[in-house]
Amino acid sequence: MEKNQKLRFAIIGCGRIAPKHAESIIALEEAELVAVCDIVPEKAQAFADKYKAKPYISYEEMLDKEKIDVVTIATESDLHAPIGIYAAKKGVHVMVEKPMAMTLESADELIRTCKEAGVKLAVIHQNRFNKSVQLLRKALDEGRFGKLTHGQATIRWNRNDEYYAQAPWRGTKLQDGGVLMNQSIHNIDLLQWCLGPVESVFGYTRTALRKIEMEDVGVAVLKFKNGALGVIEAASTIYPKNIEETLNIFGETGSVMIGGIAVNRIETWEFPDCEEEKQKIFASQESDPPDVYGFGHREIIKDMIQAIREDREPAINGEEGRKALEIIIAIYKCQETKQQVILPFEE
Ligand SMILES: NC(=O)c1ccc[n+]([C@@H]2O[C@H](COP(=O)([O-])OP(=O)(O)OC[C@H]3O[C@@H](n4cnc5c(N)ncnc54)[C@H](O)[C@@H]3O)[C@@H](O)[C@H]2O)c1
Repeated sequence: MEKNQKLRFAIIGCGRIAPKHAESIIALEEAELVAVCDIVPEKAQAFADKYKAKPYISYEEMLDKEKIDVVTIATESDLHAPIGIYAAKKGVHVMVEKPMAMTLESADELIRTCKEAGVKLAVIHQNRFNKSVQLLRKALDEGRFGKLTHGQATIRWNRNDEYYAQAPWRGTKLQDGGVLMNQSIHNIDLLQWCLGPVESVFGYTRTALRKIEMEDVGVAVLKFKNGALGVIEAASTIYPKNIEETLNIFGETGSVMIGGIAVNRIETWEFPDCEEEKQKIFASQESDPPDVYGFGHREIIKDMIQAIREDREPAINGEEGRKALEIIIAIYKCQETKQQVILPFEE
């Protein structure tokens, strides 16, 4: 590929999250949005009109007719892996929305197929690119926490019956999962990114208020291989609206608490002799994003473009994306068996 040549993108699934993909691609100089696809023709057409791309109602046809370098897949969650596998076999690089698959088996098949086809695979956990999270990660890499003791991932959001009624796949076991798999997966990914790898998991889930097949409340405790402990609390039942998505990490010589509506604001930053740094961080905080999706889609697409250009792995490749999925599937298993699950485990 020529150095100045733009990478040609296509989006599959023109629903709620797709505008984040389209706007990010369009904003990047090194990318262009060539085609979009949705099985609902009006959705494909309206989206194509808005973002000046070519509409398709079949991704197979789109990938046959257009020369596409990268697809971003934003359909119902159970379709991410099969569509990604199809695209990979066509030699197209793959970006999938979270969760990358609904089972570990299909996640593994997607990872394997992309490797065999020699294409890159990136999983969209955009919150890893939040400024606040990047600062935390840097502090961890520099060993500033000393011995890590414990951490928490908390989602207190509201998804009402109207939200779940928007589409038949929402809240279902096969296509979506509950609040852990859909809403909390980003935060679980962050917790394991900071403290992982995970040794064991125990958790409970319940469907407390919403009329859905899967959980609207989930809690879990994690034991990490380094001895640290973790707590997950996830709820889509919070009255009356989204309150917070929080990540807390504690160690012998460090405490960081990131809050805001979507892990975007540092609330606590404590290390030895860090007063000046702390004031600087607090003075340059981003304000809350307009929605809980945050600002990270652009960064993660940018990273994919660089990964292709430099022929390196994307920051969140298939193996990275699989980690949070494994934890959540393990929590679902705990709910069934009432026993802790040791990782890695067979489904
Ligand atoms: N990264 C994030 O923060 C974030 C936020 C929201 C949603 N998501 C994920 O994005 C995915 C989509 O969520 P959404 O809320 O946009 O859902 P949605 O229901 O609004 O959109 C999904 C779209 O995919 C289309 N579709 C279904 N099958 C298709 C096919 N075979 N080919 C082409 N299009 C097809 C549907 O018609 C629909 O328009 C989910 O997996 C969800 O978990 C991620």
